[in-house]
Amino acid sequence: MTIDFANLPLQYQRYKDEIDSAIQAVLNRSDYIMGDAVFQLEQALQSFTQAKHALTCSSGTDALLLAMMALNIQPGDEVITTPFTFIATAETIARLGAVPVFVDIDERTYNIDASAIEAAITPKTKVIMPVSLYGQPADMDTLTSIARAHQIRVIVDGAQSFGATYNGVMDSTLGDIATTSFFPAKPLGCFGDGGAVFTQDDTLAETIRMLRVHGQNRRYHHKYIGIGARLDTLQAAVLHVKLKHYENDLKLRQEVAAKYTLALKDKFVTPFIHTKCTSVYAQYSIRVAKRDNLQTHLKTQGIATAVHYPIPLHLQECFSYLNYKEGDFPVSEMIAKEIISLPMNPYLRDDEIAYITKNL
Ligand SMILES: Cc1ncc(COP(=O)(O)O)c(C=O)c1O
Repeated sequence: MTIDFANLPLQYQRYKDEIDSAIQAVLNRSDYIMGDAVFQLEQALQSFTQAKHALTCSSGTDALLLAMMALNIQPGDEVITTPFTFIATAETIARLGAVPVFVDIDERTYNIDASAIEAAITPKTKVIMPVSLYGQPADMDTLTSIARAHQIRVIVDGAQSFGATYNGVMDSTLGDIATTSFFPAKPLGCFGDGGAVFTQDDTLAETIRMLRVHGQNRRYHHKYIGIGARLDTLQAAVLHVKLKHYENDLKLRQEVAAKYTLALKDKFVTPFIHTKCTSVYAQYSIRVAKRDNLQTHLKTQGIATAVHYPIPLHLQECFSYLNYKEGDFPVSEMIAKEIISLPMNPYLRDDEIAYITKNL
C-alpha cells in the first residue's frame, strides 16, 4: 500500500466539478487581480470565522508581515515567539529589522509556554506572537492577560489552525490580529500560495487593506510604504468552493485524528488537546524515541511522513546573530528530535489508518 501525506489529488477530485467551474468563471471574467471572487471569499471568511474583518493576501508569510507592519513594528523592537515553528514566524520579525525573542514551549501542547513569557518581556517588547501549532491554539487566556498588563499587542500566527477554536470562538478572532495560510497542504488550502489577516479593529483593517496594495488609499496615492501582497482571484475562487465544504472536511480530519489516537495512545505520546481548544489537525504528530529509524521503516512500507520541525529556530544558521545556543530551549530541542507527523487528510480510509498504525 502507498499512502500519500496530504493527498491533494484526492481533495481536488472530491470537488472537481465545482472548482473547475469556479476557475472557468474567473477565466471568463478575466478579473485576475482583486476580482469578484476575492471579495466573495472575504465575506465568506468573515461569516465562517465571525471575525469583523477578513483580508486575504498572497501567503501566510505575507500575512505576518502585514500584521506587524500594521502595528508599526520598527527595527530594534522585540517580538516574543516560539522557537518550535516554521521559519516564517521568526523570519518575518527579523525581515522587519525587529528581534525575535524566543520562549520555550509547553511539553504537552508544543505551543509557547505562556508561564515563561513574562520573564522575556523588556521595555522593547512590542508584540507576543503565539503560533497555533499543528492546528491547536496556544494558552491565549494567560498570554492575553500578560499582554494587556504590559500593553503589548498580540498577533496569532494561525497559519496551521484555520477553523480551530479557543473557548468556543475561532482562532482567527483572537489577538489584535490573527493570520492564516492557504498553502496547498494546509487544512484549507488553495492551489498555490495564499493567506489571510483577521482583525476586529477597523483602523488596523483599513491599514492592512492599504498595505497589501503598496500602501495606496486610492489608485497611485500611496499613504504608506506597503508591499504587493494580493491574493490571486483564481486562488480565491478555489478557496471559496473549498470553504463551503470546510466544516465537513474538518469533522472528517478530527475523526481521522480520533482513530489514530485510539490505536496509538498506549504506545506513543499522541496529541494533547487542551479542554479549551479544538484542533484542526493540520498535522497529526506523535513522539517517538528513535524517530529517524521509524521514518525510514515507514518509508519502506510506502507510508509518507514528515518532521515538523527538525531544527528549532534558535539553532538555525540564519539566527546565529541572536547568540542562542544548544540547551537554551530544552523542551523545543527534545521535541524536535522526537516528533513525527503521520499522513493526515480528511479522506484517509479506515484500512489505511489500520495499515499505518500496524506498521508503527
Ligand atoms: C506556523 C506557520 N507560520 C507561517 C507560515 C507561512 O505560510 P505560507 O507558507 O503560506 O507563507 C506557515 C506555513 O507553512 C506556518 O506553518
